[in-house]
Amino acid sequence: MDAADRLFPEHLAVLSRTADRALAASEGEALLIGAGQLRTQFLDDRTDPFVANPHFRHWAPILDAPGSFVLHRPGKRPTLLFHQPKDYWHKPPVLPNAPWMASFDVTVIRHPQEAQKQLPAHTVYIGDDSFKERDRWGFKSINPVATMACLHYARAVKTPYELACMREAAALGARAHRAAADALATGASEYAIHLAYLAATGLTEAELPYSNIIAANESGAVLHHTDLARVAPSPYRSLLIDAGAQVRGYASDITRTYATAAGPFQELIHSMDQLQQGLCAAVQPGVHYPDIHLQAHRQIGQLLIDHGLILCSLEQALETDLTSIFFPHGIGHLLGLQVHDIGGHQQDEQGTITPPPKNHPYLRLTRTLLPGMVVTIEPGIYFIPMLLERAKQDGRRSLIHWERIEALLPYGGVRIEDDVVATEEGADNLSRAGFSALN
Ligand code: GLY
Ligand code: MN
Ligand code: MN
Repeated sequence: MDAADRLFPEHLAVLSRTADRALAASEGEALLIGAGQLRTQFLDDRTDPFVANPHFRHWAPILDAPGSFVLHRPGKRPTLLFHQPKDYWHKPPVLPNAPWMASFDVTVIRHPQEAQKQLPAHTVYIGDDSFKERDRWGFKSINPVATMACLHYARAVKTPYELACMREAAALGARAHRAAADALATGASEYAIHLAYLAATGLTEAELPYSNIIAANESGAVLHHTDLARVAPSPYRSLLIDAGAQVRGYASDITRTYATAAGPFQELIHSMDQLQQGLCAAVQPGVHYPDIHLQAHRQIGQLLIDHGLILCSLEQALETDLTSIFFPHGIGHLLGLQVHDIGGHQQDEQGTITPPPKNHPYLRLTRTLLPGMVVTIEPGIYFIPMLLERAKQDGRRSLIHWERIEALLPYGGVRIEDDVVATEEGADNLSRAGFSALN
């Protein structure tokens, strides 16, 4: 049994207590969580890669589980209704042989319909719309707002089991980032780096928490560059790689940027790395996460001044929103079962929403940090022609050192991203710990 296995029963106890409250909010007697269904592509017999409902994975760490369910009834052990169809075209999912299974009563079902027999009256269903039978099963309600609000709010605070999984996911991501850097050193293309990364994780592409972003040269200015070039650029100036891994369904989300030679872009990476580590240290219980975002804008503004890229005071850069030309996304987000974990704008179990500030629409997290929350910290500076053109046209032209910017355009941009836990003892940087363990 490993550390995560030992922590699993306690994790399940926490989920049960939350589920009791979530059920009470909708006056339900039982919670049925569907893993989801395989989706067949239009006019074809191929299916999309299966991704299980994150609420299902919260309980049962099974990735390959189409048609399975978890049933929670207050005061009872949870039931895993494991779907194992009789099929000779495909290999049916194999019943996991893992210590966590001992926490469940397990029933193998050959068809999802068989789950219906197990359901008490007033069952609340949580799952996606592709489950065709759901309208015929007589649920009390389906994804009721009050229940979902309670579940989503709670997901942000990780149990020790979840933190153990995420620590492993970050370590695996760090190892694969090292393999990617080694591939870059041989002059590999974006696509070849992707293959080296995948091989180092031992995951399939569908098992990654998100599509790898691997961007050479000016492609680094495309925030989510996933259309990977098969041919290495010449000259090869820079590489931005934003790639994660997953362990038992939990994600890591890590970005590193490299320059292939010394010069202003390498200096920018160095400054950004220091700035990013300072922001990571601010991940503490009681800190209002939007304050970290605003702090990032101040520090990025100062960095742009120090590197001679903008020609105004910090106050003017912030007042004119000039920093958003270079840093046009949020400082980060909740991380967990989903790379952009749910509930980032939610302030309580009742579902009160605080949207991001008006000038910062892409900020995904507006909560105050609690112990056990895992967030990313991912500041960046990009040279995005579309946004630079906007600044040129709208009166901010004189604030920018165009000659220096034009020299940096062929490098795309720099982003550094880590996964950080807020703990009572301070910030616990999971990804830096993963990289350190490699040395
Ligand atoms: N990899 C997506 C993100 O950093 O949010
Ligand atoms: Mn991220
Ligand atoms: Mn990322």
